[in-house]
Amino acid sequence: MHHLTTEMLPAIQAELKAVLCAEIHPPVDHLHGMMQYHMGWLDEQFEPLESNAGKQIRPLLCLLACHAAGGDWRQALPAAAAVELLHNFSLIHDDIEDNSPTRRGRATSWRIWGVPLATNAGDAMFSVAHLALNRLVERGVSADITVRALRRFDETCLALTQGQQADMLFESRTEVSVEEYVAMITGKTSVLLALCAELGALIAGVGEETAADYSAFGLNLGLAFQVQDDILGIWGDEAVIGKSATSDIETRKKTLPVLYGLAHNPALRELYAQVEHGSDFVPRVVALLDESGARPYAENRARQYSQAALDHLHTAAPRHPTPLEALTEMLLARKA
Ligand code: IPE
Ligand code: IPE
Ligand code: MG
Ligand code: MG
Repeated sequence: MHHLTTEMLPAIQAELKAVLCAEIHPPVDHLHGMMQYHMGWLDEQFEPLESNAGKQIRPLLCLLACHAAGGDWRQALPAAAAVELLHNFSLIHDDIEDNSPTRRGRATSWRIWGVPLATNAGDAMFSVAHLALNRLVERGVSADITVRALRRFDETCLALTQGQQADMLFESRTEVSVEEYVAMITGKTSVLLALCAELGALIAGVGEETAADYSAFGLNLGLAFQVQDDILGIWGDEAVIGKSATSDIETRKKTLPVLYGLAHNPALRELYAQVEHGSDFVPRVVALLDESGARPYAENRARQYSQAALDHLHTAAPRHPTPLEALTEMLLARKA
């Protein structure tokens, strides 16, 4: 890990804790407890806990982009907290939407407290994410940049929900094109990574054109990231990824390896179309995917997006490219 990353991670946690504690009154009520449970800070009895709080790649991307563009990354901490809280809001809702039992190696909120309370905790997290971003002004970021950041933040939220809508609608469709898939993952995942890089660069004070280069870098990084997530959702080790490696297939998600398999293997097409399935359904699907070469296809696509990301990064002519290059490489090789 780059030394800057080692310095940034505790600063991100401190900002997240400050905003969650400052914006919710009284500090420990049930809603607050649920949010802190999700963040990995409390157990389900609301007792303190040191747990897997996720990889924090979105806040890191934001801070590293700010640094790369010549800014003071500490000024970008409110934006880093905001993107991580937005991500966590989307995960609370996503686990309900995907019927997912585990996240980061622990039971999902809806499994403990039920769907109505988990939905509400997600809404609260969404609001706190907005409040986090307003703290930019306190760090000396101009009102102009802050207002711009707030607008880009809301546009991104909207695109994310559009992507989530498509992801869910695709479950019951038999035909989904690669183009439609790319539009879907652009919404549900990549626009947020694009925002992270763009906000970091904007806070560093770059012009329009350079901000667009950082955004394109984040977007392609996000595409590579989601394709990699699709691969891990089929071939990953549950103990390492901390979530189910069967639910994407059980819910008939149209992930990239599956799209390739469906296009190249008629036996898989027939199997995937069955509404009722036996206990060997998932291993049978995986065997057919393996047979069709779906995994190397998807790995290759992820590599291409990752390379495109680096090309955009270099177009932005960053002052300090190395940490972002290292992050890009790390994400492509990740197992969790
Ligand atoms: C999971 O994101 C959701 C996707 C967009 C694939 P991460 O893999 O970044 O989740 P955490 O925050 O590290 O748990
Ligand atoms: C990722 O959703 C995107 C969002 C949460 C907005 P997925 O459903 O693909 O990710 P995992 O596998 O649950 O983390
Ligand atoms: Mg999910
Ligand atoms: Mg989902």
